[in-house]
Amino acid sequence: AITPVILCGGSGTRLWPLSRKSYPKQFARIMGDESLLQGCARRLSGQGEGLDFAPPMVLTNADFRFMVTEQLLEAGIDPGPVLIEPEARNTAPAVLAAALHLAKDSPDALMLVAPSDHVIPDTSAFHAAIAKGAEAARDGRLVTFGIAPTHPETGYGYLDLGDAPDGTGAAMPLRRFVEKPDLETAKTMLEAGTYLWNAGIFLFAARDIIAAFEAHAPGLVAPVRAAVEKARADLGFLRLDPEDWAGADSISVDFAVMERADNLSVVPYAHHWSDLGSWAAVQQEAGADENGVTLSGPATAIDCEGSLIRSESEGLEVVGLGLKNTLVVAMPDAVLVADMARTQDVGAVVKALRAKG
Ligand code: GDD
Ligand code: MG
Repeated sequence: AITPVILCGGSGTRLWPLSRKSYPKQFARIMGDESLLQGCARRLSGQGEGLDFAPPMVLTNADFRFMVTEQLLEAGIDPGPVLIEPEARNTAPAVLAAALHLAKDSPDALMLVAPSDHVIPDTSAFHAAIAKGAEAARDGRLVTFGIAPTHPETGYGYLDLGDAPDGTGAAMPLRRFVEKPDLETAKTMLEAGTYLWNAGIFLFAARDIIAAFEAHAPGLVAPVRAAVEKARADLGFLRLDPEDWAGADSISVDFAVMERADNLSVVPYAHHWSDLGSWAAVQQEAGADENGVTLSGPATAIDCEGSLIRSESEGLEVVGLGLKNTLVVAMPDAVLVADMARTQDVGAVVKALRAKG
């Protein structure tokens, strides 16, 4: 069986004001009735393509623990262990904690690390890719999943294949992993045609990723191991030890391990994937009418073009008149009105508001 390890601790500030500190985007029903977390857990449950998934392990923080189990149960999925991080330390400590917890009973078990906030509509294609990746992971490889890049995005990791993908969908050895390059480097890699975007989904045996941490981020191992060993059961959750956890550096798994490891493989994934990184991405997913307008909730557009108008409250009618390339997201307690070309900068709005207090 493959154990899904769902990372559910991010704050998703670029989808403010829908995504909030107290209610980040993975819990929101952005596309249809299912939350992003529920969609993620559903994709990684049951059987398919010869795969057999164990109940998902979830890593989150104390504030969200009940929301996690509630949403999984609502989706008909039995949660596996829910590990509580005393404070956010980015993804490297989280992935290592999951591996150490899993390795207690089954060091050879494969774990599929998945962000909780992605959209991957074609479940059977995704399962086929996981099955290909599992073959490589059983051979000791750290497997990444690669998406064909469309623009010089600087917020992603880049996977250097050294060659164009061979079209078989099988795992290929990776030459190099470049996390969040600057724009010039991203442009060069896009033009080279031999790079894929890192989807942020990983597959490996618990023992192999632990070994990779020992080799490339040894400073994390002692505090995270102690935090896992001293974890306390708490209302059915597993709370990592706060003192030991505080001794772990805050760093992403991409920078801590993936950029440095030499046993990476990549499974090219040619089907649709989105990390809903901005409101523009949400609009792309949702689709637009012939004027490029997307409405959601009690919203109306008159003579508008290229705009997204969303009301997140049943009793709040939002009307756009003559808008061009404008984003309007209305929550009961906050409204964002923005230039559609600036949706990448919404995270800065949140920072500014926090600074204001
Ligand atoms: N449990 C937990 N704890 N989860 C976390 C934490 C944490 O401290 N920090 C982030 N996460 C979760 C987020 O909710 C998200 O689901 C996932 O881990 C990845 O974190 P992001 O912060 O969204 O990473 P990123 O988008 O900057 O970059 C990663 O994803 C890209 C694709 O979306 C990297 O893997 C890139 O290489 C990749 O291209
Ligand atoms: Mg992300």
